Amino acid sequence: MDSSERNIDRKYAIVTGASTGIGRQLAQQCAEHGFDLLIASDEPGIEQAAIELRSQGVMADALVVDLSTVEGVDQLYAATAGRAVDALLANAGRGLGHGFLDQDWNEARLVIDTNVVGTVYLIQKVGRDMRSRGEGKILITGSIAGLMPGSFQAVYNGSKAFLDSFSYALRNELKDSGVTVSVLMPGATETAFFERADMMDTAVGTAKKDDPADVAKVGFEAMMAGDADVVAGFKNKVQAAMANVIPATMLAEQHRKMAEPGTADK
Ligand SMILES: NC(=O)c1ccc[n+]([C@@H]2O[C@H](COP(=O)([O-])OP(=O)(O)OC[C@H]3O[C@@H](n4cnc5c(N)ncnc54)[C@H](OP(=O)(O)O)[C@@H]3O)[C@@H](O)[C@H]2O)c1
Repeated sequence: MDSSERNIDRKYAIVTGASTGIGRQLAQQCAEHGFDLLIASDEPGIEQAAIELRSQGVMADALVVDLSTVEGVDQLYAATAGRAVDALLANAGRGLGHGFLDQDWNEARLVIDTNVVGTVYLIQKVGRDMRSRGEGKILITGSIAGLMPGSFQAVYNGSKAFLDSFSYALRNELKDSGVTVSVLMPGATETAFFERADMMDTAVGTAKKDDPADVAKVGFEAMMAGDADVVAGFKNKVQAAMANVIPATMLAEQHRKMAEPGTADK
């Protein structure tokens, strides 16, 4: 089904970064729970995701769009064609390994533009409509990485610290509005993320990771319940709790052991 066959009684969700990984599984959760979908990512793989979703009888439109840009976000918003968005799953994001001074500036900036600038711009546009209607659900994919300084992934962890913090603040601002804001904080998850971030020579890049389907399920459930946050997985819950009590300098040293190039098990 595409949007021309839509049933106006059905709920409508936008999922960004839905071509692969956690976002693809978040879209799957939405599909299995009766949402029509608008999914977006910056490569044509998103079309394949939409084909798979449509084969399950779900209305799914796909958009190839660069969500690190204002124009890209405007294009995504325009693609809703004025249809009320019941759920926004702002998930698109990218990582970047190596020491900050050794990173390519354009790549570092792309992390900030995608994870922070594009994400909050999209949330502002869709969030305003939700507030006007007095209903809506927003799920932001933050990270437990946002709870600790990320040596050798410094810009990425900083971007997730922004999103984790932003989510709680916006949630509070909207507490009487009918709009809920939830943050999903995954730990290391088995996706293309670490390869794309050039981190396959690191301990975290090569470690056993969580299943993106499990991560997406807890995130979707938290969004539907209107919870403030959810950390996916027991080990990550412990890590998140420890991050609250361990000094930041020590957390940074621990992160070095996971993310410094050359730390992968030989
Ligand atoms: N994997 C982990 O360990 C982990 C842990 C905590 C949090 N997270 C977060 O989870 C989210 C999803 O990541 P993932 O692990 O599922 O990795 P992934 O498989 O690499 O998925 C990233 C998704 O974001 C899309 N994307 C990236 N930059 C974009 C841009 N400029 N415009 C539009 N789409 C863009 C990608 O699209 P294309 O495929 O088209 O490039 C892809 O669909 C990210 O926010 C990430 O920070 C991941």
